Amino acid sequence: MNDGMESSTPASAISSADEVRKLRDELDKAGKKLVFTNGCFDLLHAGHVRYLAQARALGDALVVALNSDASVRELKGPSRPVNTEEDRAEILKGLRSVDAICVFTEPRVTKLIEQIKPHIYAKGGDYTVASLNPEERAALDFVGAEIEILSLVPGRSTTKTLQRIAAGEAETTDAPRKLRIGVLGSGAGSNFEAIRGAINDGSLHAEIACVISDHNDSGIITAARKAGLPAFFVDPGINPKRFPDSAQKEVCEHLQRANVDVVVLAGFMRIVRDPVLTEFKDRIINVHPSLLPKFKGSDAVQRAIDEGELETGTTIHLVTAAVDDGRILAQASVPIEIGDTAELVHERIKKEEHRLLPQVLREWTEK
Ligand code: GAR
Repeated sequence: MNDGMESSTPASAISSADEVRKLRDELDKAGKKLVFTNGCFDLLHAGHVRYLAQARALGDALVVALNSDASVRELKGPSRPVNTEEDRAEILKGLRSVDAICVFTEPRVTKLIEQIKPHIYAKGGDYTVASLNPEERAALDFVGAEIEILSLVPGRSTTKTLQRIAAGEAETTDAPRKLRIGVLGSGAGSNFEAIRGAINDGSLHAEIACVISDHNDSGIITAARKAGLPAFFVDPGINPKRFPDSAQKEVCEHLQRANVDVVVLAGFMRIVRDPVLTEFKDRIINVHPSLLPKFKGSDAVQRAIDEGELETGTTIHLVTAAVDDGRILAQASVPIEIGDTAELVHERIKKEEHRLLPQVLREWTEK
């Protein structure tokens, strides 16, 4: 234990700065990144959970520097914290997004930053880079940490919760909870953009909780990063026909950490297997460019043309272990005209997909 730490908490919940520094060095060697954030995290609420998931998504592991009880008292007054640092640490440790917790007793987190040397420092959106404490800012610059300001969930805070309890008021939600969507894609990402478009114009009450791609330079992952969404590349390995077990597991962990309600395979050219299938049973949607059950599998558009079909289309369906075989949720057809190329027909199909996919998700929110 270093001198900034309290020692009465079970060792399983609180790590020493040295232990976290070791984790940081291991990640560094593997070309991975440690994210660091700090706060009181008293009376955990959904805003905290989402903030921590967002912070974790910036790198490969997350350490939370937790204000000690004395420093919470100093910051928030004598009636705080509600929960002791031992309990706050234990509760945080239960979150999938949190990999390690340190407790700091000083008013500033400077010393821990210097000891741990995180790659990324995350802070909630009530700060700007300019308004960070100058001492902490100098320590971050010194250790070369990137600074990321994350948006906070409006209306959620421990102080607000306590005020409500004191006033004897129940929590009310003006709007139903947003559907949390995880999108997997390998290509251009036009269907992902269609979902975003519907969210942005208010016609779909949802949020994109994470985007996953098997290509680190795909259109979809580039667009997601640009939009500031949690975006993850999952390395598929060298065999183009196989998406190995380790990758399946990684996909599942990202989806679980982002707490998604529904998974959309929007041009994801890999077969999704367990543990994702079991974990998200009946909650995975695939967009396939044919009128299923016709033309399952790859090259569906070209095969429809080659077979002399006069029309083809798109199918949105639930995903099961059998490829392109789950319950159909929606379909739309497009004509195939003489002289059409696969590209032309596919463009026609995508137009229908961009209309149909937000519609299916909208129906999902109404369920
Ligand atoms: C979509 O047209 C979708 O139907 C197809 O990939 C395209 C992705 O486009 N899916 C499959 O072929 C799955 N077997 P996008 O990246 O522009 O959304």
